[in-house]
Amino acid sequence: MKKPWSGRFKKPTDILMEKFSASISFDRRLYAYDIAGSIAHCQMLGKCKIITQTDSKKIIGGLKRILKEFESGKFECDDRLEDIHMNIENRLTELIGSVAGKLHTARSRNDQVSLDIRLYLRDEGEEVVQLIKILAKTLLVLARKHTNTIIPGFTHMQQAQPILLAHHLLAYIEMLLRDQERMKDALKRINIMPLGSAALAGTGFPIDRKYTAKLLNFSEASHNSIDAVSDRDFAIEFCSTIAILMMHLSRFCEEIVLWCSSEFDWLELSDSYTTGSSIMPQKKNPDAAELIRGKSGRVYGNLVSLLTLMKSLPLAYNKDLQEDKEPIFDTVDTSKMSLSIFNGMIKSARFKKIPLHRLDISGFLTATDMADYLAEKGVPFRMAHEITGKTVAHCIESGGNLQNITLKELKNISAYFEKDVFEHIKLENSVQKKNVYGGTAKKQVEAQIARIDKKLKNKPKLSHSK
Ligand code: ARG
Repeated sequence: MKKPWSGRFKKPTDILMEKFSASISFDRRLYAYDIAGSIAHCQMLGKCKIITQTDSKKIIGGLKRILKEFESGKFECDDRLEDIHMNIENRLTELIGSVAGKLHTARSRNDQVSLDIRLYLRDEGEEVVQLIKILAKTLLVLARKHTNTIIPGFTHMQQAQPILLAHHLLAYIEMLLRDQERMKDALKRINIMPLGSAALAGTGFPIDRKYTAKLLNFSEASHNSIDAVSDRDFAIEFCSTIAILMMHLSRFCEEIVLWCSSEFDWLELSDSYTTGSSIMPQKKNPDAAELIRGKSGRVYGNLVSLLTLMKSLPLAYNKDLQEDKEPIFDTVDTSKMSLSIFNGMIKSARFKKIPLHRLDISGFLTATDMADYLAEKGVPFRMAHEITGKTVAHCIESGGNLQNITLKELKNISAYFEKDVFEHIKLENSVQKKNVYGGTAKKQVEAQIARIDKKLKNKPKLSHSK
């Protein structure tokens, strides 16, 4: 097998070295992008009269045949040809003869591989944006169902204040919307066309880079050839965006696992997204949530791999860069799968009817409302806090709680307490009082729902749509 670069070599490549340097086993998934890039490059070479129209057409015809071979599973990859670029070029030569050699005019694999990854990530990034949107919509439906469901909100995993379940779910939608924005922003920097940078210096051929960019729907051509062939910031940004997304999913998954426990017993996942135990017949385990939580770890790993790969790497192209692909591909696969599974899991889940008295286990969820009540009566908040703290301590000592304490007991602690305090510390009233913008009162939660609904209805503008 003759290598395209064999001219200056006298000895064959060591067999183990051949295996070691080959990336075709994983970069073959870029075939459609590699071919699309080659077709555009070839069209440009023809238009600029760097090659004849006849040769250009011949090459493009050959490339289209190769695409069909890939799609029908007939294309045979060869390790000895290293990567997707040389496998395709070799096949092109088999199909159309030596004219195939003209395709690589004014091009290097260095700008070619950057192009391929950009085209690939552009598509995958758009898909991730859509998958996030689908999940946000599912959560919005769920939030709408629960604008009257009160749950305890937690800080330090201790019951803190009553909130609406809808409000809690909407918090996750906020995170997802930021993830969507981050991805859209990353797509702007992915959508830049590196071809024409060649090995590192650019090319002496009178190519038209803007034309190639237009053919491939890129917003612009890269501005510095050295940077273009050695930059992987765009892939790191992509993976860091996904890492943050997975972190969000892992937080939600952790809560789902908790909510499914018999201690919480708030949520029931569908049989379709849970598994049993091989020994304990009663078990129904929230595996989907646990796995997504776990997979966030490997995505972080991919991000750290890429950052470490790029650390201290001198300009311009270095073969180290070939190691970028597996972490990128794994990040794409893992996040898309996680988003889809999460969506199915939460869509088919059922929140249980939770009796309020069972929620307020400590009976102190509205202690802050009691302090607010006193503060509204003119007691300085710090003092109000102290009085309420004493009330809580009294309840703990006497085995009671704020829901069953008597006015007499309250008056013994502070003369500021009146009968109307009991209205103030009802769970429902506590929630409805948080009527500040962004607060948990139903009115505010409904406003949040309306705002998000509008946002999700906006038609997305694809980064590379014409
Ligand atoms: N397979 C290589 C990669 O993924 C393509 C670029 C090779 N360039 C080179 N000068 N050897 O990075």
